Amino acid sequence: MAKALARYACTSCGARFPKWLGRCPECGEWNTVAEEAQPAAELGSAMAHADPSPVVSLRDVGGEAREARISTGLSELDRVLGGGFLPRSVTLLGGDPGIGKSTLVLQILDHIGRAGRKTLYITGEESAGQIKSRADRLGLSGAGIQIVTEVELERMIPAMVQEAPDLTVIDSIQTVRSGEIDSAAGSLSQVRACAARLIHHAKQVQPHPPQAGGTAMLLIGHVTKEGALAGPRSLEHMVDVVLYLEGDGDRPQRVLRSVKNRFGAINEIGLFRMTGKGLAEVSNPSALFLQERITDAPGTVVFAGMEGTRPLLIEIQALVGENALAHPRKTAAGVDPNRVALLQAVIEKHLGASLSGLDIYLNVVGGLRLSEPALDAAAVAAVLSSFHNRPIDPRTVVFGEVGLTGELRGVNFARERLAEAARLGFRRAVIPEHNRKTQETRPDGLEVIGAAKVAELAAALLP
Ligand code: TYD
Ligand code: MG
Repeated sequence: MAKALARYACTSCGARFPKWLGRCPECGEWNTVAEEAQPAAELGSAMAHADPSPVVSLRDVGGEAREARISTGLSELDRVLGGGFLPRSVTLLGGDPGIGKSTLVLQILDHIGRAGRKTLYITGEESAGQIKSRADRLGLSGAGIQIVTEVELERMIPAMVQEAPDLTVIDSIQTVRSGEIDSAAGSLSQVRACAARLIHHAKQVQPHPPQAGGTAMLLIGHVTKEGALAGPRSLEHMVDVVLYLEGDGDRPQRVLRSVKNRFGAINEIGLFRMTGKGLAEVSNPSALFLQERITDAPGTVVFAGMEGTRPLLIEIQALVGENALAHPRKTAAGVDPNRVALLQAVIEKHLGASLSGLDIYLNVVGGLRLSEPALDAAAVAAVLSSFHNRPIDPRTVVFGEVGLTGELRGVNFARERLAEAARLGFRRAVIPEHNRKTQETRPDGLEVIGAAKVAELAAALLP
C-alpha cells in the first residue's frame, strides 16, 4: 500500500520540510525550498529474501589507508586532500561558476595521466573542442586525458566500467541526469539520485581480482545564489571530502578550502593565483596577501593569522565614519558580523570610544574568510586606527583573542606567527602578554610587546 508523498526540500542544503517555506530555516537561503516528488517505497518486504551482509574481522581488512594516494601534482591541493586522492574516495569540488574548477581539474588530469595513471573526464558542460582549446591555452598536450561528453547517467557508468580509470571527474554533477527520474537536470532529486549512483560505482570493489573496480571520483558542483540548481551543500553528507574553490571577483587569488575530509585534516587551505596559463601555486602566500597594501593609511593593520597548519599574514582594514542616516551601518566582509558587534561593545566599554552612532566597515583583504579568535586584536586595532584617524606603524603585526572584560587572551601557534612576521621583514609584534611570557625563543629582528588588556594593545599600537 505504497503512497506517493509530496514533500518539500531545500535545493541549497537538502533539508526537508512538510510544507513550503519562503526561507530555509536550516541554511537561511531564500526561495530555495521546492516540492519534491517522492518515489513510492515500502521498506521491509524485500528483507525476507535477502542474503545477510558479509561480516569481516577488522584484523583481516586490507586497509584503505595502506593504498597509495594519487598525487595531483599540485602540492597545495595534495596538502588539502591529505596527500592526494585515495582510491575509491569521492571528493566534491564546489565553487561559483567561472571561478576555475574546470581549469584546475584539467591541470590535475594532465599530471595524473602523465604519471601513468588512467583518468576519465566526463563533461556535460563543454564540448571536446572547447576542452581542447583550454588545454592548448594551458600548454597541456592532453595525451593522458580521456574525455567523455555525456549527461546521461545510464551511459556514463558503462563508460566508467569499460575504461576502469584510477580517477574519474564529473563536470558537473548538475548536468547529469537519469531517465529513471522524472524531473529536470539540476533539480534536487536528479542531483541527489545521480550522485548516489555515481558514488556507489566509485566505491564498488569486484571480488576477482581482489581490489579491482571502483575509481577515485571528483564531482564538480556549481554554487548558485539563485537556488535554480541543487547546490553542492545538499551532497556534502554523501561524499568523503568536500572542497570549495573561493575567490573574490576580479582578483587573481583563489583559496581552496576543505570543509570535510574523512581521510585528513580540515581547515587546511591551498592558495593559488589565476594566471594566463591556469592556476599557479602560491609559494609565498603572505606576500601575495600584502602586495597591494598602502602602508601609511589609518584603518589598516597586519594580522598574523593561521590557516590550518600554516601561518599567513593578512591585512585587516576598517573604516569608521559619520552616519548621515538614522541607522548606522555595520558591515563585515570575511569576518563574523556577530564577533564585530561584540568587539564594538568591548571597545566602547574598555577604551571609551563611542562608536554606536557611526558606520563601521571591516574587511579582510584578499577575499579570505577568517574565523579564528586570534583575529580580534587586529579587528580592534583597525577600528581604533580609523576612529582616531591615525595610522599604525606598517611594520607591526598583531594577534590575540579579546575577552568580554577587555583582556587579551593567549592563542595557539604564537611561535609560527612570529616567525612568519620576521620572515617577511616585520619589526614589531604586539601580542597577548600570556604568549609573550611563555615564548622561549623569539625570531631575530622582531621586537615582541606583550599586552594583557585591549587598553595596553591600543597604547602600544597608537601611542
Ligand atoms: P573555469 O575553469 O571554466 O571555471 P568553472 O569551471 O569553475 O566554471 O574558469 C573560467 C575562468 O578562468 C574564465 O573566466 C577564464 C579564466 N581562465 C584564466 O584566467 N586563465 C586560464 O588559463 C584559463 C584556462 C581560464
Ligand atoms: Mg567548468
